[in-house]
Amino acid sequence: MAGYPVEEASYIILIRVCALIGFVLQYTGGNQLAEEGFVRVGNLDNLSDGDMMQVKIGKQDVLIANLNGKIHASSDVCPHQFYQLSTGDLDGDVVRCSLHGAEFDLKTGEQLPGKYNQFGSLPVYEVRVTGSEIWVKNPAV
Ligand code: FES
Repeated sequence: MAGYPVEEASYIILIRVCALIGFVLQYTGGNQLAEEGFVRVGNLDNLSDGDMMQVKIGKQDVLIANLNGKIHASSDVCPHQFYQLSTGDLDGDVVRCSLHGAEFDLKTGEQLPGKYNQFGSLPVYEVRVTGSEIWVKNPAV
């Protein structure tokens, strides 16, 4: 490369090749996930440990949570009176519904014993992380 010492030019070429390989791997990985029914819903940079957020997959409200660096996905709809769980409190792996206090384990979807526990568990969805992208299996597939 004109104007660069040979060693510096080698580093620049190496960095460009690595960036290209990363792009190709991410692109082809995403295509594979999309073919398997996964939907890209967000980025790890926007979901720190202990955070949760709501995403839409089709008409489904889906809760995404970062639990100790592992991403989990479930329905974001409380089975009691259909309130948005992602507005509740997250304590470890457990989300507490902010409307009446029902609690759910976000790793399993199971409702914990206590208030309003007769309304059932949450559906949980498969998650894949590729690079920094978060993908969730479309509940409708
Ligand atoms: S709506 Fe969630 S506990 Fe009542």
